[in-house]
Amino acid sequence: MAKVIYPGTFDPVTNGHIDIVSRAVELFEQVNITVARNPGKTSLFSVEERVEMLNESLKNYSRVVVDSFDGLVVDHAKHVGAVGIIRGLRAISDFEYEFQMALMNRKLAGDITTILLMPHARYTYLNSTIIRNLAQFQGDVSEFVPSIVVEKLKTKFPRK
Ligand code: COA
Repeated sequence: MAKVIYPGTFDPVTNGHIDIVSRAVELFEQVNITVARNPGKTSLFSVEERVEMLNESLKNYSRVVVDSFDGLVVDHAKHVGAVGIIRGLRAISDFEYEFQMALMNRKLAGDITTILLMPHARYTYLNSTIIRNLAQFQGDVSEFVPSIVVEKLKTKFPRK
């Protein structure tokens, strides 16, 4: 059974991430979406909140598991028995960073393959920072994120 992990910060999950998951489940038996506990970024949502939003957004996918990890992504992949790491490639600007990470991860663990998937073109300009920024200034994010995320963002940035 081919299992892969899809690591990221997911602060918060967007429809672009969901698009990647929907493609990954077509290719692999199990997809573990794994929230990085310490990606070197300050986050708006706690790991537990991010896991909760992912679980709710992906509840209709039976072969998806949501978890979290600390440390090296390849160690977590080995720990759960994954053969590969899924990453999304939105635009050419993502490429250099993803290429560097993929080669470093291959150096660290030659038996774990990075698989880059392209989301639908409508998501190429999306990222979590833009969503947080939009929500902070009461912009409408409902087109870009699952409904649970819309609700959670309202609690972080209540109308004054
Ligand atoms: N749709 C929308 N947004 C997307 C997206 C998609 N399909 N794919 C990526 N993004 C966005 C994310 O929302 C995020 O936005 P933000 O920076 O505004 O928050 C950005 O692209 C990239 O973030 P993410 O995918 O979460 O990756 P990251 O650069 O934060 O790295 C890890 C996360 C877990 C992969 C990385 O920190 C890691 O590997 N950590 C472990 C340490 C390790 O193993 N190091 C050795 C590897 S070199």
